[in-house]
Amino acid sequence: MDIICTWRGELTSAEVNALHAEAFGTKDSADTDWHTLLERHSLGWVTAREDDGLVGFANVVWDGMVHAWLQDVMVARRAGRRGLGTAVVQQAIEAVREAGCGYVHVDFEPALAPFYVDALGFTPTPAGLLSLR
Ligand SMILES: CC(C)(COP(=O)(O)OP(=O)(O)OC[C@H]1O[C@@H](n2cnc3c(N)ncnc32)[C@H](O)[C@@H]1OP(=O)(O)O)[C@@H](O)C(=O)NCCC(=O)NCCS
Repeated sequence: MDIICTWRGELTSAEVNALHAEAFGTKDSADTDWHTLLERHSLGWVTAREDDGLVGFANVVWDGMVHAWLQDVMVARRAGRRGLGTAVVQQAIEAVREAGCGYVHVDFEPALAPFYVDALGFTPTPAGLLSLR
């Protein structure tokens, strides 16, 4: 697999928005300014690139101390089920470890337990979510 994963790799907002729309079926993020978002709120991010562009991404936000959270973990359909999602998250985890954090959090739907729990080793925990919409 000739895909290069990079911590804090270069990106354009247009390509992240396109991948986000494909992965999550969203249209409302189409104009998101990822450079501003990532620089203001993230510990870092992972890009995965193949010859034809961005095929994977994961964002890592944090509390500035010991907790980091994965957001927007996504892989293009054309690159799916080849281990890329696992590689992207593992690289993010390694960068979080090197930053001195002690915990990586992620929220996911039950259907993704094979990915986060079985493939990546996350421990399922009770968590809470309050919608403010
Ligand atoms: C979830 C996602 C990132 C996985 O990426 P991927 O590159 O296909 O994952 P991998 O190839 O590393 O998968 C490793 C294992 O995790 C499990 N897995 C991966 N995707 C899965 C899915 N959609 N549902 C259930 N299990 C899944 C499988 O056991 C897989 O091994 P297998 O292919 O041998 O069966 C990708 O499907 C995606 O972008 N989905 C849409 C966006 C999304 O839901 N992101 C997660 C937000 S919490």
